[in-house]
Amino acid sequence: MYNKIGVLGGGQLGRMLIQEAINLNVELHCLENDDDAPCAKIAHGFTKGSITDKQTVLNFGAGFDVITVEIENVSIEALYELEGLGKKVFPQPRVLELIRDKGQQKEFYKIHQIPTAKFQLITEVSGLNAPMEFPFVQKKRVGGYDGKGVKIIRTQSDWENRFTEPSVIEALIPFEKELSVIVARNEDGEVKTFDAVECEFNSEANLVEFQFSPAAISKEIEAKVQEIAKHVISTLDMVGLLAVEFFLTKDGELLVNEIAPRPHNSGHHTIECCYTSQFAQHLRAILNLPLGDTRLIMPGAMLNIVGEKGFEGPAVYQGLQDVLAMSGVYVHLYGKSTTKPFRKMGHVTVLGREISEIKERIDYIKSILLCQSY
Ligand SMILES: Nc1ncnc2c1ncn2[C@@H]1O[C@H](COP(=O)(O)OP(=O)(O)OP(=O)(O)O)[C@@H](O)[C@H]1O
Ligand SMILES: [Mg+2]
Repeated sequence: MYNKIGVLGGGQLGRMLIQEAINLNVELHCLENDDDAPCAKIAHGFTKGSITDKQTVLNFGAGFDVITVEIENVSIEALYELEGLGKKVFPQPRVLELIRDKGQQKEFYKIHQIPTAKFQLITEVSGLNAPMEFPFVQKKRVGGYDGKGVKIIRTQSDWENRFTEPSVIEALIPFEKELSVIVARNEDGEVKTFDAVECEFNSEANLVEFQFSPAAISKEIEAKVQEIAKHVISTLDMVGLLAVEFFLTKDGELLVNEIAPRPHNSGHHTIECCYTSQFAQHLRAILNLPLGDTRLIMPGAMLNIVGEKGFEGPAVYQGLQDVLAMSGVYVHLYGKSTTKPFRKMGHVTVLGREISEIKERIDYIKSILLCQSY
């Protein structure tokens, strides 16, 4: 078994990966430009450098047999070269290249009959008439994250304020629910899914506000989302962890919104709610170990702690004492010293027997736990 992994990125996903790597006695070494990143002080090794710079990634990767990412915006060129040198790069650079371009992602769904919202790709941005009937959604093909590259276009004046970058234009889906499924695959081809999670969004920030599992869906829908997730990862021939985001329409139709080839925000609850966390599963997948038991031990929900609007500077948490006094509540702070509006600063997981009771506790926590600044 390999006992050292090189990770591109040093954010909160890397931090939670480190927490699991310790249990497997695996060393995680991070490459990251920010000295103050969540992994900086706790990684086995921390190299300061740009993950988008080819030479920096090549130099860093030379020291490892297994390389992974905790963010998609990396030098894929360097990863191809490292793969060519015989290193295990998971997810594979080919998969990263496909996924990081939402246009290619959509084409992939179309070619492989994976259900998705109707779309078209645009590059010519000046003097265009709206390419679809209002309302629709415009997404930058590359570089968007946390809803930042997504615009809902309802009117001509929205369209006049569109993104000017190459984009995907897709139908606005009046979905009933947003669901997410995390699926893992190791080199031997073993595949396992976690139960679906249901996401509640904050429309202002375009961020998941909280998500819970099990989702309030029928057994048939649950089986169907898991089947689609397995189909996607197998078709990609990918090794690692893949989050598959879905829209569920009122007619029970499932559409894949997007995929992310790494641990995902919608899987944080697995740390406490499941026999195996998504982070442990990612390590098992990329080290070609048996995949862990994904069953839910107890229902739960996850609330992002994000920077309050109107505060920027050193982070201070209001209400933390009261939250820590609650039972079945787990606080994760990511170690980011400065807050900004809507920046993901941490999360809280709430366990319980009934989703209704869990939601009440989430609402309460949301009302008292605030990340502000001096
Ligand atoms: N076609 C659509 N119809 C309706 N809502 C949509 C559509 N596409 C995106 N959205 C809404 O915008 C959110 C963000 O879109 P998307 O997941 O594509 O972007 P992202 O920036 O990659 O997001 P994140 O990093 O938050 O997952 C979705 O979760 C959904 O709520
Ligand atoms: Mg998304």
